[in-house]
Amino acid sequence: MTGLDDDELDPTRRSWNIATRNHNAHKGDQAARLAAGEEILFEEELELLGELHGRRLVHLQCNAGQDSLCLARRGAEVTGVDLSDEAIAFAERLSADAGIPANFVRAEVVSWMQETALRFELAFSSYGAVGWLRDLGAWARGVARILEPGGRFVYVEFHPLVWSIGDTFVLDRDDYFAREPFVEPVGDYVADSADALGALDEPVPGVNDVAAPSWQHTFAEVLDALAQAGLRIERVREYPWANGCRVNRGLVREPGSRRWVWPEGVARTPLMFGVVARRDG
Ligand SMILES: C[S@@+](CC[C@H](N)C(=O)[O-])C[C@H]1O[C@@H](n2cnc3c(N)ncnc32)[C@H](O)[C@@H]1O
Repeated sequence: MTGLDDDELDPTRRSWNIATRNHNAHKGDQAARLAAGEEILFEEELELLGELHGRRLVHLQCNAGQDSLCLARRGAEVTGVDLSDEAIAFAERLSADAGIPANFVRAEVVSWMQETALRFELAFSSYGAVGWLRDLGAWARGVARILEPGGRFVYVEFHPLVWSIGDTFVLDRDDYFAREPFVEPVGDYVADSADALGALDEPVPGVNDVAAPSWQHTFAEVLDALAQAGLRIERVREYPWANGCRVNRGLVREPGSRRWVWPEGVARTPLMFGVVARRDG
């Protein structure tokens, strides 16, 4: 099954409920922004996703649905899945208020993928997803199960190396090969990332006192889990920038974009990766 029991899932759900409220509190009238055509997706996921028009697409761990609705606006038939009640309720309201139809399901993603009768041409996940799941093998087998033959999974994620690098660029944060969970509240990274993540003005970070477990999964483990689940790895990318989220306080904003980049004179390592894996027909 998921590898997560109810005692573990409940703090995750509650912590994400609070974090989602905190994050959305910084973003003003999102329905009006979406209806006015604001694009939240980044070119990296759009390039890997390819044609969206008319595609049956599932957005795994979709949070409050902003990315899901941008995918729907590009013509995909979108189903978003997330554990957080707050996130799914917000996504449903946003869909109605912005006039962009999509389906949202509140569910534990691995169990849902193991049980659903739905099948998709495209599965998508991004930016802070598998770290909340303990069992990467079960996740990857679930992804393979919900894809139609010939279907593709696109995953764009912060590179797991990021969590090892301290703000002064020494390796004084998390062990890259850590096995034990990290247990801490979901932070207000939207406030820390300012307008790169859609925050208006100068937001004061919201409080969250519910600690939730998260896990380190190395880059090789993610690729290996997908391959072991029978998916064919078609494309792999590494990027020396972080989209939206200021994953390290030493990073600086690339002028005119929503990217965080290494400052001049610092040797770059990857800050994000992208993978496309296909279920062969
Ligand atoms: C960093 S957010 C992902 C953001 C997303 N890429 C977006 O489009 O906004 C991580 C999400 O994973 C969800 N999550 C955590 N554990 C989960 C689980 N076991 N099943 C389903 N969703 C889960 C959280 O509720 C949260 O919304």
